[in-house]
Amino acid sequence: MSMTETLEATPFQTYYKPQSEEYLHDFRTVVDRLFTKTHERIGWYEPWQAWIVTSHDLCKSILADERLTPDFMKWKFAPPAQSEDQKNDFERMLDHALFRLDKLSHRRVRRLASKAFSARMTGSMERNIKAVVTAAFDKLDGQSHFNVAETLSIDIPRGAMSRLVGIPPEKDEIFHKLGWAMVRYNGIATTGEDRTEILRIALEGVAMLQGVIQERRDRDNPGDDFIGMLLTAQEGDDRLNDWEILGIVAAMIAAGSDTAGDMHPTLLYALLSNPKQFDKLKANPDLANNAITEILRYEAFGKTGLHRFALEDVEFDGITVKRGEQIIIAAQAGGLDPKQWERPLELDIERNLNGNIVFGVGAHVCAGLFLAKIQARLMLQAFAERFPNAELAEPPTRDPAHYNARHITKLLIKTNV
Ligand code: HEM
Repeated sequence: MSMTETLEATPFQTYYKPQSEEYLHDFRTVVDRLFTKTHERIGWYEPWQAWIVTSHDLCKSILADERLTPDFMKWKFAPPAQSEDQKNDFERMLDHALFRLDKLSHRRVRRLASKAFSARMTGSMERNIKAVVTAAFDKLDGQSHFNVAETLSIDIPRGAMSRLVGIPPEKDEIFHKLGWAMVRYNGIATTGEDRTEILRIALEGVAMLQGVIQERRDRDNPGDDFIGMLLTAQEGDDRLNDWEILGIVAAMIAAGSDTAGDMHPTLLYALLSNPKQFDKLKANPDLANNAITEILRYEAFGKTGLHRFALEDVEFDGITVKRGEQIIIAAQAGGLDPKQWERPLELDIERNLNGNIVFGVGAHVCAGLFLAKIQARLMLQAFAERFPNAELAEPPTRDPAHYNARHITKLLIKTNV
């Protein structure tokens, strides 16, 4: 079957409604209905002009399949490629982002950047990230209620990313705006007018980053922090150039800004609505790493999924994905697949999560895993210490128009201190 033949709604299309109100508030029920009412695990989704894949196994094997690429420019609906001299610096930076590179270049850049992303390097930043977390909680002192989405969700990811990359604090705002611009520039819902404004903001951010890199190159010793490690990374004579370093930072802010922002309310919502699990975590803080991954499986905030574009015709589950077509890996659905997980609709912070795809898998596996986990763990620790009796004041409010997430705009917490 090909997409042109799918004129009548398939069972998949009948049950899998990622843009519905129900999905926004209760995605587990929608996904579970798909898993219990039909055997179809892949279907064409007209509004996004994409195939969507939902089973854990299929999600995993497609993520590892190099006949597909995350490079949006390989989509048959992508804007025509520009010649080099037509490109502005923002587009040049995006061209070098990790998810735009061809297979071999991507492998090479990830290898050269591996030390900068390592647990050791990120761990060495723990003190700085803790200071960011402490400052974010200090702002909440004395409050009877606070909205996580307007406080911790903004202050912690922004500060943690800036400190990791080594952005001077006074440039934090422009750095953050670059992230905002990047994820929207090629978004499905972005109009031409939006794009002009997004570009203006983005170019300011790129110029700022170029300045930061240049300033480091001018030093005798570029330092042993993130940028320093990228500047000195070497394999034989091979080194990263400035565009490649910018491309790495571009990928980090594109992939790590909104995600980390959504992570904090998601963690708190899941734990406050499952107090026994929270008590277990408080009693045994060593469970934090597992708890964070489990919450991101159980209460996954993704609405679309991970995007891939077929470099050639490929067949999955009896469906041919034609060259240039888009396939969306709905890892949030895979996380609830009863073939993979026992009692998938329950939160169990001690669950054996071997084989999970919460942070992706294969060549493009999350490079910011350690940063995400450190900030999550420090946030949860500080929350439990400062607000041991906190409760949810009301159910979360989510943005139905958000382009790719069940994004929480308001999670009101009653501190009870
Ligand atoms: C809850 C937080 C996060 C989640 C759930 C998450 C999840 C993911 C997933 C699933 C992928 C794979 C994408 C794909 O295969 O298309 C990915 C890639 C990536 N993530 Fe994260 N991420 C998170 C936070 C972060 C943070 C904080 C950073 C930045 C430091 C980051 C940086 C990256 C980068 C650079 C990639 C692209 C890697 C590549 O293409 O080689 N992520 N992330």
